[in-house]
Amino acid sequence: MQTDLRAAAHDLVCTGGGILAIDESSGTCNARFAKLGIEQTAERRRAYRELLITAPGIGEFVSGMILYDETIRQSTQNGVRFVDVLRARGIAVGIKVDSGTTLMPQTADETITEGLDGLRKRLAEYGAMGATFAKWRAVFRITPDTPSSRAVQANAHALARYAALCQEAGIVPIVEPEVLADGDHSLERCADVTRAVLRAVFSELEGAGVFLEGIVLKPSMVLAGFANARQPALGETVAATLRVLRDTVPAAVPGIAFLSGGQDDRAATQLLGALNAAPPDAPWALTFSYGRAIQRPALEHWRGNPESVGEAQRILLQRAYQNALAARGAYDPAKEERLLIGVAS
Ligand code: G3H
Repeated sequence: MQTDLRAAAHDLVCTGGGILAIDESSGTCNARFAKLGIEQTAERRRAYRELLITAPGIGEFVSGMILYDETIRQSTQNGVRFVDVLRARGIAVGIKVDSGTTLMPQTADETITEGLDGLRKRLAEYGAMGATFAKWRAVFRITPDTPSSRAVQANAHALARYAALCQEAGIVPIVEPEVLADGDHSLERCADVTRAVLRAVFSELEGAGVFLEGIVLKPSMVLAGFANARQPALGETVAATLRVLRDTVPAAVPGIAFLSGGQDDRAATQLLGALNAAPPDAPWALTFSYGRAIQRPALEHWRGNPESVGEAQRILLQRAYQNALAARGAYDPAKEERLLIGVAS
């Protein structure tokens, strides 16, 4: 079992590609559709996910896609299950298994992520459907008083219980502690919070007996709050992010696949590229597990119009390609417009 988990985690993050997160809940997907005037129905969500999953050549840049419960049960217009489309293209199938956040008692409006009840059974079902990896997201908001150690501890504990259950089922857990970039906090404050969160997470993972070679860590990058007037230079952000990761993430972890967290599309690519261009002494692979930073321009182009599918897929592929270059340390912002060459359809 450990050999399989190690190999599956390695294939997700160490082969030059990244992960495309298309696991928005129906509510979140609808909210994004609403902003663009797209009809908010199960059929529209299915059509949009079909656009993403069937984009020609996407498998050259993406090793896995994370689906939502609704999506993993859906099929293309021609009746081929999405899971089968992905597997035929060599793209691993992932599934979001947390059920979202809820307010945590005895905290200042902090949240705890739920979804442990019945998880063993759901993992067995998803595994039988073809999922080989899963995702659980814990969320931490920075304010002068948060995150509290109570919220950090409770979320880290839940992440560890989830990860242990995944590995029991032969599924690689993506462990996602997200420190939000909303707010006006400094880079240093984000570094302190991220360090405390990751320390708690790895302590709980160890306590739960989780096999670290068979997980993928999906953290936020260390950023100054979006509302902070002093935005650090790229080099400062890179140094802060690498410092925190080196302080907290054991070398046994095969790879770190960052979330984009609301960053501008190209900024997220540029930062990943700069992280990979830093001196190559990091023990883990550094790649992407982006949602918005890859999907956004394609969604904005598609807007629910069937005639725009081809161009939206081309735009999607372009972002996936640039992020794969960044993951390989070969991203050049000056060459963003370079053409995709040799992508198989
Ligand atoms: O849980 C969050 C998603 O998987 C990643 O989304 O890249 O838009 O932050 P994001």
